[in-house]
Amino acid sequence: MTSPQFREWDSSLYHRLSTPQVSWGKKVLSRLQLRGDEIVLDAGCGTGRLTGDLLESLPHGRVVAIDLSRNMLRSAREHLARFEPRVNLVACDLLHLPFERAFDGVVSTAAFHWVLDHDHLFANLYRCLVPRGWLEAQCGGGPNVQRLSQRADALAATPRFAPYFRTFRGPWLFQDAQGAAESLRRAGFVDIETAVEPALTVLDNAEHYTEFVRSIILRLHLENIPSETERAQFMAMLTEQAASDDPPFSIDYWRLNLRARKPAELA
Ligand SMILES: C[S@@+](CC[C@H](N)C(=O)[O-])C[C@H]1O[C@@H](n2cnc3c(N)ncnc32)[C@H](O)[C@@H]1O
Repeated sequence: MTSPQFREWDSSLYHRLSTPQVSWGKKVLSRLQLRGDEIVLDAGCGTGRLTGDLLESLPHGRVVAIDLSRNMLRSAREHLARFEPRVNLVACDLLHLPFERAFDGVVSTAAFHWVLDHDHLFANLYRCLVPRGWLEAQCGGGPNVQRLSQRADALAATPRFAPYFRTFRGPWLFQDAQGAAESLRRAGFVDIETAVEPALTVLDNAEHYTEFVRSIILRLHLENIPSETERAQFMAMLTEQAASDDPPFSIDYWRLNLRARKPAELA
């Protein structure tokens, strides 16, 4: 079970800053071929910006949007109020889903890499789906944010910060296309398609870069540093390095696309 201190996000900041995630997510949603009356699980819905788009495509359907973070769900409830009663927001862990054969499809964007056991995750999602149910998802994968995380790790290993990071383990699982396909297959999925694509993201300036990296990518790293002064110093050093990148303030994002289906029931 994910421990409580790792669950929370600053959801107002995420809602405002998540333009890159929303633009990637819209492409994922554009791949769906919906009748319009399906019941769909949004797995790790965040503040619901993409859940709203999904609901627009399901005029006669319903979405159950789940997330681990109560802050995210509070923001999502506000953002999605106009869709009630076609949306249900549920606080739960993707590793402990209470659903069985409940959904025609599962959509997930920018969430799976925060879950460190993909065999367990995909087995849970498989169980949630009806026979012939589908999964359409995207998360960080391959060499996602490698340059940034190497810089953060190097800084965290310096004498000044090392005492704070002694027990810290990386918070993400970035699978490659083959590893993800194998995990999906082990869970029972068929018709599996997985692919990693680059998604270099350039932020406007130093201030935007600092705010984005701090509240989204390195939020769990920064929680290890006890004082605000030192957290700001940690981020200032990373931002200074990013200023010299080409292009400046770019983030080396890579996205892993996942598509799969639960087989029809055997006669
Ligand atoms: C980067 S946000 C993505 C939100 C939204 N899908 C989007 O694309 O903007 C990742 C979300 O996954 C949720 N999450 C991470 N681990 C989770 C878990 N084990 N169970 C449920 N939600 C989880 C986080 O709380 C967060 O809201």
